[in-house]
Amino acid sequence: MKKLALFLGPTLGAFVFGYICGDFFNFDPPWSMGIALAFLTFLYTVLLFTGGGPLKEKSFIGNLGFKIPMVLVLGAATWFLAGKAGFPIWWKIEFVSFAVVGLVYFIILDLKSITKEKNLAHSSFRLIITYLLPSALFIGITSELPQFKPEHELEKLNKKPITRFVPGPEAIAAGREIFESNKCFNCHKVFWEGNSDRGPNLGSKQIGLYSFDYIMEQVVDPRKIQSPGFEDKKSKKAMPTYYSEDLSKVELQSLVAYLKTLRDPTHIPIEGKFPNQWTWWDDPKIVEEGKIVFEGKEPLTEGLNCAVCHGADGIPMMTGAFDFRNANGPDTDKMPDHIDKTLKDWPDELYYKRVTRGIDGTPMAPWGMMFDHLYLWKAEAYARTFHSPLDGRAQKVPVPPIPTKEEVARWTTDGLFLDPLL
Ligand code: HEC
Ligand code: HEC
Repeated sequence: MKKLALFLGPTLGAFVFGYICGDFFNFDPPWSMGIALAFLTFLYTVLLFTGGGPLKEKSFIGNLGFKIPMVLVLGAATWFLAGKAGFPIWWKIEFVSFAVVGLVYFIILDLKSITKEKNLAHSSFRLIITYLLPSALFIGITSELPQFKPEHELEKLNKKPITRFVPGPEAIAAGREIFESNKCFNCHKVFWEGNSDRGPNLGSKQIGLYSFDYIMEQVVDPRKIQSPGFEDKKSKKAMPTYYSEDLSKVELQSLVAYLKTLRDPTHIPIEGKFPNQWTWWDDPKIVEEGKIVFEGKEPLTEGLNCAVCHGADGIPMMTGAFDFRNANGPDTDKMPDHIDKTLKDWPDELYYKRVTRGIDGTPMAPWGMMFDHLYLWKAEAYARTFHSPLDGRAQKVPVPPIPTKEEVARWTTDGLFLDPLL
């Protein structure tokens, strides 16, 4: 009985601990972390309990023979599970090193007991070796980690603190560092980067579409407006409210300058808490706001009125203007990057490109040069309802996969962003 408790107790404890961590780090499902930790602990308990029998010294090789394959399997499983759970590479390395440290521990436990020291010199020698070995190990490993590289630290120390906010690449780079060092990545992903989905993915959400002041307010006073899908203000995972005290005005401005760059020219914004997300195409609130823009009634886009040409009810008012009621309408043939798809199959990228850049030689002007793209995306979400009414959709528009590092790089190198970026 006591033995059983000793055997299962730690495993159960590991499961509960893993579950709590899994919940905290927003694992999906949270018990996956529990299972992983319980499995590890169980294996180690088995290792501890095997062999019982009469005490017999094993040879060093015999000692290793069973444990090395076991730890190899364990290490591989840990690597795989941590990867599946979306841990960054350094975490994965750390988890696997824990498995290896466990191996060393068991090897030492099963080592032949050492003989008594013969004299002072002998014991001093052993003492020094005992210090030297782990020290060498620690220094060896840590010297390879980027955060312990002296150049890295020196670079940080030698950097002049920013004292004045000048919009531009330097402010954006400084803001990016502030984002990293204030652990925003612990709760927010930025496209493919980041550690958890406690808060919205600021890349897929395209926080950069919003105004400078709006973003600033969200960082300084995050409880004022909750992001869609994150309504629980009391959640322990809610956004901290101390950034207005921790960061200087210039730091906050730089941070927002960085956040303003988070846009995706190939997809409409995505809302909601991972994995229950939705695109703006299916967002009734956005579609309603889009109608106001489309019909020329949005004060912040004064002078823009899609309905004047495309018709408030979708019946074109101008000959040649695109008819949004026709799901099989083709992409214009006046542009060199024409694609052979009909409206219902247009990628988000095409909608966005045509509306922001316009169609050469036609009244369809490059609206993206004059008006905030936030509102243009909204107008597009509304325009889609002419051929596909919200309440008539059999299913939601699928949430696209998170853009990869390569895709994000392509947006800038391929000039997918407009200048100026509104
Ligand atoms: C403990 C987790 C956590 C940390 C750390 C955190 N956030 Fe948040 N953040 C959230 C959550 C949850 C929300 C959504 C709820 C809300 O709107 O307050 C959010 C919302 C936001 C929003 C508003 C998004 C919108 O929909 O308008 C911005 C901008 C933001 N965070 C930026 C940051 C920045 C910058 C940092 C680092 C300086 C940071 N966050 C750190 C959890 C966090
Ligand atoms: C001044 C008139 C005018 C206004 C205002 C206007 N459009 Fe257009 N739009 C046109 C015309 C004309 C075409 C057809 C161009 C062609 O292919 O010859 C067109 C085409 C389009 C297309 C189809 C592009 C393609 O691939 O063929 C989209 C999408 C579109 N407009 C969206 C909008 C949206 C959204 C707005 C409001 C933000 C808007 N338009 C405002 C005149 C206008």
